[in-house]
Amino acid sequence: MEAETVTIDRYGVIGYPVSHSRSPVIHRLFALQTEQQLQYELLQVSPEKLEIAVRQFHRTGGKGLNVTVPHKQTVAKLCDNVSERARVAGAVNTLSFVDGEIHGDNTDGIGLLRDLVVNLGINLDGANILILGAGGATRGIVGPLLEMEPSSIQIANRSLGRAQTIADEFSHMGPVSACRFNAVPVTEQYDLIINATSAGVKGETPPYPVAAISEKTFCYDLSYGISPTPFSVWAREHGAEKSVMGWGMLVEQAAESFSIWRGLMPDTAPVLKQMAINA
Ligand code: ATR
Repeated sequence: MEAETVTIDRYGVIGYPVSHSRSPVIHRLFALQTEQQLQYELLQVSPEKLEIAVRQFHRTGGKGLNVTVPHKQTVAKLCDNVSERARVAGAVNTLSFVDGEIHGDNTDGIGLLRDLVVNLGINLDGANILILGAGGATRGIVGPLLEMEPSSIQIANRSLGRAQTIADEFSHMGPVSACRFNAVPVTEQYDLIINATSAGVKGETPPYPVAAISEKTFCYDLSYGISPTPFSVWAREHGAEKSVMGWGMLVEQAAESFSIWRGLMPDTAPVLKQMAINA
């Protein structure tokens, strides 16, 4: 009798650079927990080779890919269809290869909301929110945050133009406005300040608006690291009630991708704990 061939479903994360990615560890922990057989690879692919790499992964039987910096916007063009939330964000972080088609989705926004609301217990309803930065990361979170009906979202950026473009694009969904770092209105106290700049990754600390922080402000950095990020150091130094890095968002967006691919939602709490990063 011939031995039955077991094929293991293949997934991965595609980025440039990508060697630092924690996604393989997170997805292996999810697979272990939910007793799913799968393999998860790191694909370091430069922008000019993105299309070839995605199509080859698809052609050779790959089931899905997470997409990270700098490919989130460009990969959308390779998709046969994208979800509404990916369309609104203008970025794709999850690809599924189904019946010869490429589906694009974006789980970053829901990942952030789950971390803020479920894990950290922050009430966004009626909150005053300040977002620092106006790049792709901001574009992905403004829509989901507005759906939670905050009092206001202020987007502050080094260059006003990019912040204004995002504010204009989302203003039909709720109260969102734009300004430069040095013109952040501080008449209202901010309940939540989210750092969505990429300054910290480069080891830089821009002149963030100190006056926006009060003892009731919760600070959240979309970036994360083993040591505190420059923004979380800045926030604590200026008296933020709490300052948290984006490890929880990373695990939550991964869980949502996993559930798209495998049809079941893993329990994120033990994974966050196991990675010893939910400080
Ligand atoms: P991402 O897709 O990760 O958001 P991006 O589109 O390059 O990356 O956007 C990076 C964001 O970080 C931008 O808001 C950028 O400000 P500008 O629009 O003025 O360029 C911000 N940023 C990066 N480095 C910065 C620095 N040293 N000081 C202030 N803002 C910075």
